Amino acid sequence: MTRAVCPGSFDPVTYGHLDIFRRTAGLFDELVVATGTNPSKSRLFDPEERLEMLREACTDLPNVTVMGFTGLIVDFCREIGAQAIVKGLRGGNDYEYELPMAQMNAHLTGIETIFVPTTASLGYVSSSLVKEVASLGGDVSEFVTPTVHERLTAKIAARR
Ligand code: PNS
Repeated sequence: MTRAVCPGSFDPVTYGHLDIFRRTAGLFDELVVATGTNPSKSRLFDPEERLEMLREACTDLPNVTVMGFTGLIVDFCREIGAQAIVKGLRGGNDYEYELPMAQMNAHLTGIETIFVPTTASLGYVSSSLVKEVASLGGDVSEFVTPTVHERLTAKIAARR
């Protein structure tokens, strides 16, 4: 059985992430989407909210499981018996950011990272930009699921 992990903050999940999940899910028996916390990034949604949004967004992907993790991603991969980490790449900046982590993770445990290029039409979509545009009153409904959009709108309103 082949199992891969696609880790991220997913704060919140976007159609860019979902495109990577859908395309990668076809390559493995199981894809585990794992939400963790990057301490260097500011977060809008708490871990439980991010998990709920991910679970809702992945309901039509039969071999995709959503889990939370803490600690090292490679330890999580070992715990669940995953052979690979999957990361979506939008461009050179993502590659520069991801490459040392992929090399460190391979060095620590031998777990390889597979980079999947984002579909070109979604290359400019990120959780950070979605949050920024939404918080300044822009329409982000084409970048996130209706449920995520509803939660995002409510969260931003509550923060005002
Ligand atoms: O791309 P993101 O959204 O910033 O990723 C966040 C997350 C939580 C997936 C990433 O920060 C991570 O993998 N954290 C786990 C800690 C870890 O393993 N650090 C060493 C990486 S070499």
